[in-house]
Amino acid sequence: MTPSGSLPTRYFDGLYAAAPDPWGFRDRWYEQRKRDVTLAALPHPSYRRAFEPGCSIGVLTDGLAQRCGDLLAADASAAAVATARRHLAQHPHVRVEQRSLPDAWPGDDIFDLVVLSELGYYFDPPTLERVLDLAIGSLAPAGVLVACHWRHPVRDYPQSGDAVHDALSARPLLHRHVLHVEADFMLEVFTRGPAPSVAEREGLTP
Ligand SMILES: C[S@@+](CC[C@H](N)C(=O)[O-])C[C@H]1O[C@@H](n2cnc3c(N)ncnc32)[C@H](O)[C@@H]1O
Repeated sequence: MTPSGSLPTRYFDGLYAAAPDPWGFRDRWYEQRKRDVTLAALPHPSYRRAFEPGCSIGVLTDGLAQRCGDLLAADASAAAVATARRHLAQHPHVRVEQRSLPDAWPGDDIFDLVVLSELGYYFDPPTLERVLDLAIGSLAPAGVLVACHWRHPVRDYPQSGDAVHDALSARPLLHRHVLHVEADFMLEVFTRGPAPSVAEREGLTP
């Protein structure tokens, strides 16, 4: 752990040195399906401005790029950022930056979508609280926060995926719209403050 309460960047640099796609985002059906579930759970067809911290090599980012007018993606690892930039070069509305959270959270920006996918458990509990403060603080009113995490134990990680979702559920400003739980991962979608459901927005409810 670093003094700032997160797994050090050199841990991830080591993973990328050993394999260019350490989690198999490109090849594993598990990852493709989880990505499709995540994208399908987004309550709006499109977002004006979005942020995906911990973007890795940019595979989920590519899916988000189809739905976002302006997308900032960031990763602590230089190798991941270089691959993501190559992978996303055809999308001029996507920027990939090397940023290490929580210190380099883009504090002045407001987003209508923030995606915390497979990221929260790299922080110890107090640092995760700081990350959640930053994420919620950078959401527009009724902005959407998506969180998705692996549920099985990983020895190196400071906390479990379920603990990350417990921390999210404890936030009074967040209103939950989607809860998807399966043996392997949990996916939740929140808005900052109350917001109508998809059917309510489309006038389908009484
Ligand atoms: C498992 S990948 C998640 C990729 C993508 N979000 C997805 O779900 O498909 C986690 C990424 O988070 C990055 N990461 C870990 N800690 C970070 C931190 N403190 N700041 C920025 N990125 C970080 C790692 O380098 C790694 O590329």
